[in-house]
Formats: sequence, C-alpha cells, structure tokens
Amino acid sequence: MNQHHEPFPTDRPAVVTCGLPYANGDLHIGHLRGNLSADVFARALEKLGQQTVYVCGSDMHGTPIAVEAEKHDVPPEEFALRYHEQYRETFERFGIDFDNYGHTHEPTNIELTQEIVRTLEEEGYVVEKPIQVAWDPIEDQPLPDRYVEGTCPYCGETARGDECDEGCGRHLEPGEIEEPTSVITGNPAEYRTREHEFFRLSELQEYLQAFIDRLEGTDNAKRQPREWIEGELKDWCITRDLDWGIDYPDEETDLVLYVWVDAPIEYVAATKAYTECVGADAYDWERVWKDDGEIVHVIGPDIIQHHSVFWPAMLRAAGYTEPRAVMASGFVTLNGAGFSTSRNRAVWAREYLDEGFDPDLLRYYITTHSGLQQDLDFSWDRFQERVNSELVGTLGNFLYRSLLFAHRNYEGTPDTPCPQPVTERIETALQAFEAAVNDYSVRGIGSVPVELARFGNEYIQRNEPWKLTDEDPDRAAAVIRGCVQLAKAIAVLLEPTAPGAAARLWSQLNEDGSVHDATLETALAAPTARFEEPTELFEPIEDERVETLAQRLDDRQAQPEDGGDGIDAETALEPPADERINFEEFQALDLRVGRITAAEPIEGADKLLELAVDIGHETRQVVAGLRQLHDVEDLPGTRVVLLANLEKAELFGVESDGMVLAAGEQADLLTTHGETPPGTTIK
Ligand code: 2FM
Ligand code: ZN
Repeated sequence: MNQHHEPFPTDRPAVVTCGLPYANGDLHIGHLRGNLSADVFARALEKLGQQTVYVCGSDMHGTPIAVEAEKHDVPPEEFALRYHEQYRETFERFGIDFDNYGHTHEPTNIELTQEIVRTLEEEGYVVEKPIQVAWDPIEDQPLPDRYVEGTCPYCGETARGDECDEGCGRHLEPGEIEEPTSVITGNPAEYRTREHEFFRLSELQEYLQAFIDRLEGTDNAKRQPREWIEGELKDWCITRDLDWGIDYPDEETDLVLYVWVDAPIEYVAATKAYTECVGADAYDWERVWKDDGEIVHVIGPDIIQHHSVFWPAMLRAAGYTEPRAVMASGFVTLNGAGFSTSRNRAVWAREYLDEGFDPDLLRYYITTHSGLQQDLDFSWDRFQERVNSELVGTLGNFLYRSLLFAHRNYEGTPDTPCPQPVTERIETALQAFEAAVNDYSVRGIGSVPVELARFGNEYIQRNEPWKLTDEDPDRAAAVIRGCVQLAKAIAVLLEPTAPGAAARLWSQLNEDGSVHDATLETALAAPTARFEEPTELFEPIEDERVETLAQRLDDRQAQPEDGGDGIDAETALEPPADERINFEEFQALDLRVGRITAAEPIEGADKLLELAVDIGHETRQVVAGLRQLHDVEDLPGTRVVLLANLEKAELFGVESDGMVLAAGEQADLLTTHGETPPGTTIK
C-alpha cells in the first residue's frame, strides 16, 4: 500500500477518466478496453461509497484528424463531429456510463486550454525557440506530426510524426524523425526553421521524481516514466504549424496548440461541464482539479509518457491537483495478432452489437480475460468458452437453480435468518472487492461475483435442499435463504462489470430502486420476501455461431480495405465530387493501357518503387507508392492504366514520367478486362 494516499473510499470527490479517442475512424472492440475498464472501476468506486464522476470526450484536434479529414476531403470539424456522435452512441450501447462525454472542440475546453497556457506563460514555463520542422518543398507546406512518416531516431523502426508507434513507443519531438516523407503526397520532406513555443519540462524534474513515487495505479505506468524522468527531460514543443486546432493564445502567432496540450485538458473541461449541469454543491470540479480530488486516469499502453510525465508536469505548473493514479492497460490483439483498421482485421464495436450480443458478455471478457496491464487477446472461441463456462455455467446456473427453487417452494425468500457461513462468505467477497479496487485490479472486481456464485453452486450442491424439504424443512429453508442472499450480493458485486445483467437480476429479486445505486452494505441487507419465477440471466453461445463469426473474420481479411460488411462504408467512402468537368476536360487526360515490365525498390524510400511501364510507343519510368502493398516480383507483366500526360516529378532523385492508377489505401491497381495492347488510348 502506498503511504501517500488513504485507501478508497475517502471523503474526497473522485474523477475517473479514460483516454480520449481520436474521432477519426470506426471503433473496434480493442478500442473499448480503456473505456470499459474505467467504467468498471468508476462503478466499483461508487459501490464503495466513494463520490465518483466518470468523464471522457472525443479528441477532435491534431493531425490524426486533419490527415484523415484531408484524405476524405471533408472539413476536419465536420469529419470529427461525425465520429464523435457515433462514439457517443456506441459507448452508450455498451453501458459505458459517462457522467459527461464531451469533445475537445467545445468552447469550455478551448477557453480552459487557453487560460491554462496563459498561466504557464505567466509562471515562466514557456519559452520560444527556433526549431527545424518538416516541410513539403513541392507543396510548400509544413508537415507536422502525422503528415510525415520516417524512421525513429531512437530505435530505427518506421515511425509516424510524433510517435514511434511500431517500435519503442516514444513521443518524438518535431524535427526528430529521420528521412521524413509526406503521407499526403509521398514527397520527401526537408527541414525548415520556424519559431515555436516550448514547455520547460526540465524545470519540473525534481517535482516529477517525487510525483512518480507517489503515483498509484499499474506498474507499467510508472516503470518507464521513472527512467525517462531520471534521464534528460527535453523541453516539450507545444505548438504546431497547422490550421486545425486551438489557437495559441497570443495574437502575434498563427500557430495552434499541440493536440496533446488540449486533449487532457478536456478531462478538466468535461468535469467542469458536469458541474455546470448538477451545480457545485453536488460536485465541485474546482475542488477536484485544484484542491483535493482523487484523480484516476485509465489509459492505453501507448500514451503512458503523456499521462505520467507531460500531463502531471502541466498540471503542476498551472497550479492544479496531480493525479492519484494512472492505470495503463496492455495491448489488445485479435487471434494473436494486431488489429488493423485499414485491413478490416477487426471485430467492430457496432458489428458486435448488431449481432445481437449482450454488451455485458464483452464487458466481462475484456475486463477479466487478463490483468489490466497484460496484453489481452480476443478470439471468438475463447469468448464463447468464457461466456459459456463462467457467465452461463457458474453464475447463471447458480442463480437460476436457486431462485427457481426459492420461488417454487417459498414464493420468494424463506422467512428465516441467513446462515452464518453464507454471511461470512459474503463478507469475504466484499473485502476482496474493496481490495481489488484499492489494487486497481479491474479483473479482480469482475472475478469476485463469479467466485461467489462458484461458492453458491458448491453450497447448494453440498446441502442438497431438494432432499431436505421433507426430512428437514427448516434446514432446507435456511439453505435457500442463504442462496437468495448470495444472489442479492452477486447482483451488487456484478453491477460494475455487467450492469445490464445485474439490473435484470435485481428486478428478478423484486428489489426496490436500482442496483446501480446500491452500495456494498446492501449485499447483506435482507432480500425482498416475494419474487416471481426467474429467467436465465445469460444465453449460451452456440458452436455454429462462433464458427460463422470466425469464418467471417477470416474471409474479409482476404478482401481489400473496408470491404465485406459495409460497416465502414458510410464514413469511409468519399461522396462523389459536386463539381462537374466537361468532356473536353476529361479528354485532356491521356490515359493509356500499359504493361509493367520491371519493378525495383528505390533506395531510402520505404514505400516507393521504380516501375518501367510499356505503353506501346515507348517505355515510361514511373515512381509509384506500391512497395509495401504489392509483392514486387509479381508486378512485371501486370496490365495497368497509366496517366501519360501528367507533369513529370522527381521523387527520391528518381524521375517519374506518368502515374499508374490505383484504388484505395491498398493501391488496388486498375487494369483492363481484356487483352487490349499496351499504348491503346482509354476513353
Ligand atoms: O492516443 C490517443 O488516442 C489520444 N487521442 C488520447 C488522448 S488522451 C488525453 F490525454 F486526452
Ligand atoms: Zn522508436
């Protein structure tokens, strides 16, 4: 136990947050790990009697939005708002009970962010410095963050803009990425000098060293940050050359704030907006964020540095309260490998719901299949196995058999005291639940009710009340009284993990009020005397269904991006252009049938190939971004469509004389249906 904090519950208000999802694409079930874990944790804190508010919002700014919006040719605000609405609805369907779900482009966040940045300036934590930023020399535009890809200077892996997402996971400062190339045009970037604002992180080294010792949560949220804090703390660039974002609060500059400044401030802004709804007497955001709130951040493994280093430093410098805990999850994989949105290698959140599955099943699987900081693998097989054995077999079975027996023989709860061993076992479960919360163990929270049901099954099996009704009716009544008490305790303890099932159980038990509001003591309060015949709480998942779902997943991975189920179609497909061209304009395009005769990688360019394309009259040298998307050896012989009168360009020192046409992110090459010879005009 950390000596710096009193155990939960405390008499201070708590706020639980989860990482703000970038509003830039459909959610798959891996994305839900943080939101679900935080939801379980927040609900569990409330069960302990801790006043708790759970907030989050969509992350609307930065290049993760700008780049995707540009690719889809939609203004960034419109693009992000579309996903924001979709996320809000999906989270609700999963029973994620945010007290407020906002977004970072709301006025409250814009104002609060600018106010905090002004404070940082006033307190002397901001310094302006010239730095090298990536620039597209052909388009003559800056290339911040995700506008560039290149090589990580720390580990040598391919990295995008501001993070080494496939290698060491480090945050990269502007100018650090090596061999940068524009993700929009494929042009190699050069570096130009620009003035930017920096947060003087190094000033806070001593503070951060002490902070990390006080910080609670999962070990992974402290281990690496401790090393970073002990090492050299570089000043952190907090501005970007970008149109989309929150303006830096200084009229003189046209820079916007780096998305990682305003995104976590939404945690505060969303809490403030909540106070504006309920009133400061009910919940005071200023007390929480500026005085003694219990702040708990639940995050994914890729944003630890932001939450255990940059964010607490910013809070400290601006005079705000530091987080009490950071709970960082491990990664989520699908059948042992990473999710891939672009390759449709995912189980989509809406797909799961539209299949008609109970959200609680996934909540249970995601939050208990591994410890929070371990990686978690999803497969339909394992999902079925855990649902059928634990939720249906252990929990559902105990509840159904004992409540049915109680209803048939006693019309509800037998009128006799709860046997002592059962009371003691429930007390042990309550202690285990409280310990799990204090250990930040989301898995522990979900396991307690299932273990209690396991005890219930053994208890009923051992005592065989069906044999006692005649020979020892008092004993039979006592055993069933114990079982009903266990059922009530299970409802209370299950609510954080499976709120829908807990509510159904609560109503089967004919209990008053909502199980959501029932705190732990309720688990031992006397159950209602009368209740109706129960129904099964969970349905088993049939083998056939799992086979179909697993097969569907396999099949669509063989298809190109966003294919198959049409889930992405609405948001991923660009609408046809409004603006029309006339026939002459079309004729100005000289499109020819071509045949690739040779394909060679270009040194130093990960994505580019040099192609020789035969167009009858001549062979053209063309540079194309196909290297990571096609087997180079398979390309020679492929019939393609070439735009022959495009201006020549030079890429990585190689002249490109024409453009090969391809569809979508996977560069599906356009070809001809028949054997038309190379050089034939396409019209
Ligand atoms: O990495 C991400 O997906 C970010 N959108 C997380 C932001 S969390 C917070 F700090 F705002
Ligand atoms: Zn790296």
